[in-house]
Amino acid sequence: MSGPVIEATNLKRVYEVRRGLFRAPGRLQAVGGVSFSLQPGKTLAVVGESGCGKSTLARMATLIEKPTEGSLKLDGIDAVNPPAGAAKTLRQTVQLVFQNPYGSLNPRKKVGAILEEPLAINTNLSAAERSERARAMMTKVGLRPEHYGRYPHMFSGGQRQRIAIARALMLSPKLVVADEPVSALDVSIQAQVLNLLGDLQSELGLAYLFISHDLSVVRHIADDVLVMYLGHTVEQGPKERIYARPLHPYTQALLSSTPGVAGTKRKRIVLKGELPSPLNPPSGCVFSTRCPHVTDRCRAERPLLRVVDSRDVACHYAEDFLAEPPL
Ligand SMILES: Nc1ncnc2c1ncn2[C@@H]1O[C@H](COP(=O)(O)OP(=O)(O)O)[C@@H](O)[C@H]1O
Ligand code: SF4
Ligand SMILES: [Mg+2]
Repeated sequence: MSGPVIEATNLKRVYEVRRGLFRAPGRLQAVGGVSFSLQPGKTLAVVGESGCGKSTLARMATLIEKPTEGSLKLDGIDAVNPPAGAAKTLRQTVQLVFQNPYGSLNPRKKVGAILEEPLAINTNLSAAERSERARAMMTKVGLRPEHYGRYPHMFSGGQRQRIAIARALMLSPKLVVADEPVSALDVSIQAQVLNLLGDLQSELGLAYLFISHDLSVVRHIADDVLVMYLGHTVEQGPKERIYARPLHPYTQALLSSTPGVAGTKRKRIVLKGELPSPLNPPSGCVFSTRCPHVTDRCRAERPLLRVVDSRDVACHYAEDFLAEPPL
């Protein structure tokens, strides 16, 4: 029985940001205590509006940035304070796929060289062996042999994302963190790339931390869902439970405005007000400035995540929403 590929406990990330010449730097909490674990072959989708901390979480999970607080284990190894000699293993355990396939591929290198680079840096394989592995990976992700000698600009957005995925898989990671991997693509192409990710997951037993602001994308690929608002988890649990019966008012609003997810009877919930600045978050519940159900208690007391109806939810009144007819 293998353990979780990634285990994050109370991860926090704070940035010191300048606020002009004469003011003390502000303390921006981009991620305010997020916990999750992910088994091989499973997908956890992290969803929320722009600015809620998704990419910061992705950078911590891929070891690009250290958390300010909290613990992170990759395949059982402490990734915050790694044991001696473990750094290389850790780096190979996890790979990142970015949103923008235009920006993340070196325009001066041919596809073959892009795919072989991680092997050249991290293995002792010969040039012939590297080339063979690159070509095999190209077949796996649906690229043709003649693409080996072409440059990234010669490809469509969807094909470039296939190249980025192929590169991420060259060192056989156990976890792929995909930060909005299909957000820049046309809807028809999105489905192809999502299908490819699904096929690769079944074949290779990959775990995905899949980041998206789009709940209609996540619906098809997630096992579990983690909904973030202003750096905090507001609802987290099995996809079926959350889509069938969202209990946090923020999740309810997100789902109500997602085409193809909301039932025909579901009324669209339009959130009032702007997303608050993470430099100056609301007291009490992080969602209190925009929540249609806010009370004085919400403004005074921060709701903790707790289990209601087989998922975690951070709302004082989650049980009341459960008692109401479904949205
Ligand atoms: N390096 C940084 N320095 C200061 N603030 C940052 C930095 N990176 C992200 N932030 C801030 O942290 C918050 C979360 O950003 P991000 O993780 O990019 O959110 P998302 O990916 O969900 O859009 C935002 O308010 C953003 O401005
Ligand atoms: S705790 Fe209050 S403000 Fe926060 S989500 Fe629940 S009802 Fe809304
Ligand atoms: Mg982002």
